[in-house]
Amino acid sequence: MNPLKHVAFIMDGNGRWGLKNKNSRNLGHKQGLKTVEEIIKFSIKKKINYLTFFAFSSENWKRPKTEIDYLFKLLKNFLKTKINEFIKNDIKLKILGEKKFSKELNSLLNRAEKKTKNNCKIHINLAINYGSKIEITNAIKALNKKKIKINPHNLEKFLYTKGIPDPDILIRTGNTKRLSNFLLWQLSYSEIFFEKKLWPDFKTTDFNKIIVEYNNIKRNYGSITK
Ligand code: IPE
Ligand code: IPE
Ligand code: MG
Repeated sequence: MNPLKHVAFIMDGNGRWGLKNKNSRNLGHKQGLKTVEEIIKFSIKKKINYLTFFAFSSENWKRPKTEIDYLFKLLKNFLKTKINEFIKNDIKLKILGEKKFSKELNSLLNRAEKKTKNNCKIHINLAINYGSKIEITNAIKALNKKKIKINPHNLEKFLYTKGIPDPDILIRTGNTKRLSNFLLWQLSYSEIFFEKKLWPDFKTTDFNKIIVEYNNIKRNYGSITK
């Protein structure tokens, strides 16, 4: 069995699910949040330490304003209603991405991170306004500015994921096989699973099947294993 510390998700397919089932992309996003909650509960039972969810990319600003507004309304609502549960259940929340939002959202995010910073049952990383290329570029800039030697070990200290183990598994739902600028550095040796189901249809049973498959993979990291 392979150790399993960290699973990352590209939660794709909300829009299509919403259009098909509710005639509204936005209602697909709302439904997608239920999958997030189920996956968190299941992962706590499975004793997985870290989950990372890709919620909004640095490229998603290209979407219509109505959809962007709805997504951020959902996020605010989630933070306001769930933060006490996170505190109570020993869940740590961390934001990956450029925190350049409205004053209200910035302070909600900062407050949620601060209030949960000593929690440790499970770490939930939420990637919002996240883009991997800018993350790596900024890390190189920071190394340069501080005159620190540029090497992989030092660069990792300036990524949003500093101190977080790399994902063992990446799951992308929504029947699309691409990374969409997500964790390009951190996924170097992750096991990648592309799932046909749309995110709101992705169930803990689907997740468990992937974990079973993962357990049977030989992870070589360049060497040869028997
Ligand atoms: C992913 O679902 C969630 C976000 C990008 C916010 P999409 O909204 O991309 O859903 P599809 O791919 O259009 O179905
Ligand atoms: C990736 O999904 C981003 C998130 C899941 C937040 P997209 O739907 O934005 O990806 P592309 O545009 O199809 O590559
Ligand atoms: Mg999509």
